[in-house]
Amino acid sequence: MYVDLGNVLDSTPGLSREQLERLDDRVADAHERIEAGRADAEHGYAALNLPETTDPDEIRAAVEPFGDAEAVLTVGIGGSALGAATVSEALGGDVDAYFLDNVDPEDTTRLLDSLPLDSTAVNVVSRSGTTAETLANFLVVREAMESADVDWTEQTFVTTGDEGNLRQLAEKHDLPALKVPDGVPGRFSALSTVGLACAAIQGHDLDAILAGAADEADKLSGSLFDSPAYAYGAASYALDRRGATVNAMMPYAESLEYFAEWFAQLWAESLGKEGVGQTPARALGATDQHSQLQLYRAGRHDKLVTLVRPREREDRPIPETELEGLSYLGGSTLGELLDAEFEATEASLAAAGQPNIRVEIDRVDERGVGELLYGMEAACVLYGELENVSTFTQPAVEWGKRAARGLLGGGDFEEADAVSDKTRLE
Ligand code: PA5
Repeated sequence: MYVDLGNVLDSTPGLSREQLERLDDRVADAHERIEAGRADAEHGYAALNLPETTDPDEIRAAVEPFGDAEAVLTVGIGGSALGAATVSEALGGDVDAYFLDNVDPEDTTRLLDSLPLDSTAVNVVSRSGTTAETLANFLVVREAMESADVDWTEQTFVTTGDEGNLRQLAEKHDLPALKVPDGVPGRFSALSTVGLACAAIQGHDLDAILAGAADEADKLSGSLFDSPAYAYGAASYALDRRGATVNAMMPYAESLEYFAEWFAQLWAESLGKEGVGQTPARALGATDQHSQLQLYRAGRHDKLVTLVRPREREDRPIPETELEGLSYLGGSTLGELLDAEFEATEASLAAAGQPNIRVEIDRVDERGVGELLYGMEAACVLYGELENVSTFTQPAVEWGKRAARGLLGGGDFEEADAVSDKTRLE
């Protein structure tokens, strides 16, 4: 991963070279804490060890029975779905991947009606094994399979922790089970069993994904000037502190659209604590140049725009045209046009003094995806250290989970009482 901070030097808010150098002392201290956490495999920090601790053979062996599947359906939510979706969308593949990560009945019905249920592998993913949305969706999928005379036990495997309802279900029905690694919160689990089982069924090279991540891990030194991940995390933190309270993640590749969603979860759930945290926004280049860019360039100076692109991609020529006014397009390629759009956006933001950071990978391939995911996770962990928040917890998310379960009678949770007690303005 390559990170270019050039456009934050003259922006408003912005960071001078001297300010970055002063910040680098704090990066060095934060790096020591991160390294100590990694060495002890502490909760959360253990995620930064995944390039070494994830065993691709274990994942390949677990999905081996599903080698003939036409489709793979991941049933999970939040960190138990977005990592797999990001990897799968980025890399494509012959096996179609679907994600059931919401409990919208209409959408679920539409999806189940369209799936070839007799040749779909189902991966039910929940670290806790208790998340209502995931378990409810699984029960609905199971019933749909039974109604279609499909032996769901032959086509289902689970990815979960050592305890919880899902683990019990797997034991009861003797389903294959992958273990969610200890100490790895959901949103940091893309490079583990959680994020990679779907990619394995699609036939992607897990070793290359992990090798890309390992390369990024090797670059984590005590200085933001040596580590792209730390450069991004430290600059985002410092810009937020100076007023760029929104971070618009704008990849220039359709295949990275899910990546922006994954990033939004990582940033929001990890850093939104104690009244701080940069608000992630999602955009897609070049499409959103025709909508959100107006605001990013001419609106408040409260945003950092992160522009992401691959340096190389499979290209497609634009045909010659009979119209003289369009002759500039003929002979060029869609990729060249997309790059021109990227550079135009970057220059437009810079000309208006709006802070923006360029993030690049060589290609959207296994290695590039590993670099990007690991790099952003390390950036997030560093940001959390600099902001001194508890990056690896999610009390607000857990509050909502307890409230919803309580409302459905799934336990006696005081959070559910707060929902019933809400004052309504009639
Ligand atoms: O990052 C997180 O911890 C959350 O987004 C979880 O991944 C999400 O709530 C799903 O939890 P579980 O995997 O326990 O079903």
